[in-house]
Amino acid sequence: MDRYNRRKFLSYSLKGAAGLAAISLVPVGVNKIFNNNGMMNGNDSSGVVFSGGTPLPIPPLLKNTSSVPRRAEFQLSAGMGKTEFIEGKETDTYGYNGNYLGPVIRVRKGDEVSIKVENNLNEETTVHWHGLEVDGENDGGPHSRIMPGETWNPKFTITQPASTLWFHPHLLHKTGEQVYKGLAGLFYVDDDVSDNLNLPNEYGVNDIPLVIQDKKLDANGRFEYRLGMHDVMMGLQGGTILVNGAVNPYLKVPRGKMRFRLLNGSNARIYELLFSNNQNFYQVASDGGLLEQPVEMTKLVLSPGERAEIIVDFSMFKDGDSVELTNQGTEFMKFMVTGKKQEDFNIPNQLSKIERIDSSKAVKTRKFIFQGMGSNVNINGKQMDMDRMDEYLTLNTTEIWEISNESTGMMGGMAHPFHAHGIQFQILDRDGKQPPANESGWKDTILVYPGEKVRAIATFKYTGIFMYHCHILEHEDAGMMGQFKVE
Ligand code: C2O
Ligand code: CU
Ligand code: CU
Repeated sequence: MDRYNRRKFLSYSLKGAAGLAAISLVPVGVNKIFNNNGMMNGNDSSGVVFSGGTPLPIPPLLKNTSSVPRRAEFQLSAGMGKTEFIEGKETDTYGYNGNYLGPVIRVRKGDEVSIKVENNLNEETTVHWHGLEVDGENDGGPHSRIMPGETWNPKFTITQPASTLWFHPHLLHKTGEQVYKGLAGLFYVDDDVSDNLNLPNEYGVNDIPLVIQDKKLDANGRFEYRLGMHDVMMGLQGGTILVNGAVNPYLKVPRGKMRFRLLNGSNARIYELLFSNNQNFYQVASDGGLLEQPVEMTKLVLSPGERAEIIVDFSMFKDGDSVELTNQGTEFMKFMVTGKKQEDFNIPNQLSKIERIDSSKAVKTRKFIFQGMGSNVNINGKQMDMDRMDEYLTLNTTEIWEISNESTGMMGGMAHPFHAHGIQFQILDRDGKQPPANESGWKDTILVYPGEKVRAIATFKYTGIFMYHCHILEHEDAGMMGQFKVE
């Protein structure tokens, strides 16, 4: 057993008693059964040697090249590179403005934004702004293809509240591969509300992005996008978890409160995140922005595409202590507490005000049924066809979307993370019951468990063609996607 596997073994066997305590503390109804997760050391031979880890890489903030106030201009370039996930072992990767992943784009509510996206790959791509409320032309879905050597220049105004969004390619049948190779980045929106909260907000200092992804690394530290039978069914899952592109990273933290912005940027893996000491933390934001109230929890479930901002308090530790972030007991990131004291933040009881969308205003309830397995995955019995418009909506109307997961069956079925473009929803109910507190804010990606029915409401304020799909990228690429037109 190499060191990596030994660590896994250890943490699994230690899980028992402590793990149970954690589960009973979880205040939200997230302890569901689903069958998505492959074994952490499944069918890949990750020869990862844990050598004390590397410092957590912090993606750079992308420079705004505009000098005009309230206007923001950015340059993004998708290109090829090489990355050493394991020291001395290089693999081919993709990245935006770099070898792997991309910079963080940071804008303010009200900004007029222009982004020049250059394609330096030797294949087509698109760049989609996941969670951003913009019209279909600027959304970057599969219709907005950028040929190699060409530049696409979307322009839009930011109208939504402070939030942690992200961007990634969306080429038809190729989203999984291009994201897997490294194309993804974060997109932050700030506003007056987020500025004036007494929460850590110094980028890279006490406000830290954590892009969580899993890879199937071979013994040479390489990865390739090749789908076996199992991957077609479950989506591609690997035995090595990366944070911001690093294997087993560590971050030095002061004895105080830190803010982490988590993105599940994985192709298919659903994480159940806990600290190794089962300590509590507070979720303050979901996909589309701040929650109204902080939600105390010990376990966070994050499915592909989802984001969460959490506040973690390290003040009860001593200088030199450390604590790990784990996925179902497997440690993948270490926080090393230093003696440094920092400014004390009090998490406010009221983070934001979210106006509830009145369900009596809904002009329609639209049904989306997720079905099928493997290459047959579909929505409402149909697989993605660019030449077919699946749903027509009227601009500025409110609708209830009812998403049912009927892919139950033999092995207990799979959970599917539902996502729609250009829109933020409020979840009305899960199987008729109120959603858990950490899902009471804005959501653009909603995990729907096997046999479950979720109702979500939204007002459609932008015209154009948009996608809805499963955010397990192999399901999306296999056709578990459709398009809707707002006019
Ligand atoms: Cu995050 Cu249609 O995608
Ligand atoms: Cu999206
Ligand atoms: Cu799916």
